[in-house]
Amino acid sequence: MNFGIDDLPVRDELRGKSPYGAPQLDVPVRLNTNENPYPLPEPLVERIVERVREAARDLNRYPDRDAVELRTQLAKYLSDTSGYEVGLANVWAANGSNEVLQQLLQTFGGPGRTAIGFEPSYSMHALIARGTGTGWISGPRNEDFTIDLAAAEKAVAEHRPDVVFITTPNNPTGTAVPPETVLALYEAAQAAKPSMVVVDEAYIEFSHGDSLLPLLEARPNLVVSRTMSKAFGAAGLRLGYLAAHPAVVDAVQLVRLPYHLSAVTQATALAALEHTDTLLKYVEQLKAERDRLVTELLEIGYEVTASDANFVQFGRFDDAHAMWQKILDRGVLVRDNGVPGWLRVTAGIPEENDAFLDAVRELKKESA
Ligand SMILES: Cc1ncc(COP(=O)(O)O)c(C=O)c1O
Repeated sequence: MNFGIDDLPVRDELRGKSPYGAPQLDVPVRLNTNENPYPLPEPLVERIVERVREAARDLNRYPDRDAVELRTQLAKYLSDTSGYEVGLANVWAANGSNEVLQQLLQTFGGPGRTAIGFEPSYSMHALIARGTGTGWISGPRNEDFTIDLAAAEKAVAEHRPDVVFITTPNNPTGTAVPPETVLALYEAAQAAKPSMVVVDEAYIEFSHGDSLLPLLEARPNLVVSRTMSKAFGAAGLRLGYLAAHPAVVDAVQLVRLPYHLSAVTQATALAALEHTDTLLKYVEQLKAERDRLVTELLEIGYEVTASDANFVQFGRFDDAHAMWQKILDRGVLVRDNGVPGWLRVTAGIPEENDAFLDAVRELKKESA
């Protein structure tokens, strides 16, 4: 019997849709998912094994539902790196920042409510909105992919969204959002309707600028979302977290599944946080490689969007997808995010970046 999704009574808004996901192709150089290319250092691997072994002895019990030790260490990391003091009560953690964002939309969005993002941006914001039954509004950007503040304020005033997403540095463009823009949008969102403003700082450790955490002061409707997937080089761990007013942390408890963070995840993340200094050392190397990609792409004759992240958006192409395929044919996988004319390359190790630059240099010559 030929039976598929469409034969099931799935929700109308899911019909005909495809799941999110970059192609996972087996090619020599994969620079398509903004991962950190450096494997975890051996001493950290050993520490993870130790911590997980300890946790394994108690796996007959449910894990710490409130992840107190982990949240305390995440708060310490945030305070130490931003100079803005946050504590256990300000921090919440989940399986990747995607789950954090989902919990936020389950709490503050949902049927009859809306969220806005300024696109192109991280496409999961819209998809999580759809999954939680939250209406999605696509807000505008300038030609250079910065947020058009006047147009954004107008959109917020007009649509009165319940949740406003601001991604800085933005994915896939790499552009950072200045604090003044975030403050202005926060004010606009509060004037339109008291709504939550979620600043997605997944890539902030790679930025030339500082985290917007200090903006949390006296702004209870502001949330900063972070992840260990990028700078910490721990995408496989699945650990995301947020910092906000304690009331926000209390509110997401209403939707989180009990024991959502396994004891193994908590133990692994705690081990990684013990090695923060070693892990963040790679961030400086990746920032240097990101800057090299920008310089060399410009030298070759491509256009590049200013990047504060561990990836670079480059163009312009009459047919970005055809160019993506040509780069792939040379053994390098980059990302076609569907932004007309542009592709995105993640900063890898120097040899991977060289392979990418050689490929696009050749293609430029061929097209000349
Ligand atoms: C802007 C942004 N936010 C959040 C995430 C989700 O990261 P994770 O769920 O791995 O923490 C990503 C991943 O690519 C991202 O680009």
